[in-house]
Amino acid sequence: MNVQALIDTANALVANEKGLLAMDESTSTCNQRFAKLGIPQTEEYRRNYRELIVTTAGLGNCLNGAILADETIRQSARDGTPFVKSLNGARIIAGIKVDQGAKDLAAHPGEKITEGLDGLRERLAEYFQLGARFAKWRAVIVIGADIPSRSCIETNASTLARYAALCQEAGLVPIVEPEVLMDGAHTLAQCYAATEQTLVAVFNQLYLQRVLLEGMILKPNMVLPGIECATQQTANEVADATVKCLLRTVPAAVPGIAFLSGGQSAQLASARLNAMNVRYKSRLPWSVTFSYSRAIQQPALELWRGEEANVPAAQQALYHRAQCNTAARRGEYTVAME
Ligand code: G3H
Repeated sequence: MNVQALIDTANALVANEKGLLAMDESTSTCNQRFAKLGIPQTEEYRRNYRELIVTTAGLGNCLNGAILADETIRQSARDGTPFVKSLNGARIIAGIKVDQGAKDLAAHPGEKITEGLDGLRERLAEYFQLGARFAKWRAVIVIGADIPSRSCIETNASTLARYAALCQEAGLVPIVEPEVLMDGAHTLAQCYAATEQTLVAVFNQLYLQRVLLEGMILKPNMVLPGIECATQQTANEVADATVKCLLRTVPAAVPGIAFLSGGQSAQLASARLNAMNVRYKSRLPWSVTFSYSRAIQQPALELWRGEEANVPAAQQALYHRAQCNTAARRGEYTVAME
């Protein structure tokens, strides 16, 4: 294991006040999003869409890394340039989503366990050859009646740590993503409790399984009320709860925290990230940035709708959201930017 290379990559992923783009939707998730907009659900349309993203001018001013799906890391632009090469040309490091999805956890109604450890060592070696230098694995924690259970949290934490150790052995920086979902009517306090328990379990397992904390990135949810909760806190209140939770659970050795957006609107995801950086940046041991998918891509996807003529407008919208989030990472985002 090349410790220094892992540390260098992890630091590069959160350097220069920039963030990450998740463009790693599985084929079925991508197809679902296409279906809602009437876009044909074919490999060629998915490729066209990913080409739109990687060829957006100036993206390297906002992003240090982009997370790809298995299909996408093997694809090229129409002119034959592999997507990984296009990204690297824009000074963006290529990453790869390596989990194989969240499945029902046996004996735990309503809870999930993420699969994908079988054959992972071999897949990671191939992804390194294809140019990936970091990876992502998402675990899902659901809040509901009597859940999350301790066993669901511990099982997912153990799996995340096994994945992370395998990544580091292969020379890839693991992005460790335990997502407490915002679906439902739960309160911010319930999200706080579930997130704190989850992060304690995750870092306990990362330590037990000898994961190099300096060579990883954490990708958590923000501490939020459920999307159907009647009380929705302000951006400052969300920032306060989220930073309190992270300070209590995430070791200072971790170089960066890159949030998922989780279904928040694009504007709220920017405003809440901005509030954290405005209020706490100078006092935090880690960089606090973004690794959004929907909160960067959704406006662009809605403009594109599968039409070649809409590519310039969609690229402009994508770049705009990337700029808004880069400003939020710096604590310089304002609603006037919208
Ligand atoms: O795994 C989920 C993605 O990495 C983040 O997606 O920002 O739409 O929640 P999201």
